[in-house]
Amino acid sequence: MIIFLVGFMGCGKSTTGRRLAERLGYAFADTDTLVAERCGKSVAEIFASEGEEFFRRNERKAIEDLPSEGDLVVATGGGAPCHADNMEQMLRKGKAVYLRMSPANLTDRLLHARSVRPKIAGMNPTELLAYVTDTLAERELFYRKAQIVIDCNGVDESYVIDHLRRILSER
Ligand code: S3P
Repeated sequence: MIIFLVGFMGCGKSTTGRRLAERLGYAFADTDTLVAERCGKSVAEIFASEGEEFFRRNERKAIEDLPSEGDLVVATGGGAPCHADNMEQMLRKGKAVYLRMSPANLTDRLLHARSVRPKIAGMNPTELLAYVTDTLAERELFYRKAQIVIDCNGVDESYVIDHLRRILSER
């Protein structure tokens, strides 16, 4: 099974995805890493030198190149489901899981990880909360297309992983 973790920056897609893959004995991939490898530079460098559109084109190609068979957990970039036909591709290839988290909790987590994320680099806490609130409202339309939605507010990563494993085994 191919499992795609989708959700806003900071919701824990990469760390949860890596641990989920370990627990399931699946391979793990991260679309940001795939794009960075494809382009030979970091996501922040791609945004700075080639711009967001170039990043999105490569992000789409990275998703297109992923298999639809096998056992793989994929952590996707926060904007991936909202561009081109990425969400449709993910729904077709496997199961999409939306890791849902409130703007306040996302902002708390992102305050310590702004520099590596070009969309929010340099924002102060008030600007960040406003950006997360507004952008999440737009992006939820896409995230909510996922076959599985997990509320990650106030629960730890182990709970999310166990809960997800239970849901997946029941399907
Ligand atoms: C982005 C999220 C990032 C990365 C890029 C753009 C976004 O991924 O793809 O900086 O538009 O939300 P994470 O969600 O893994 O931080």
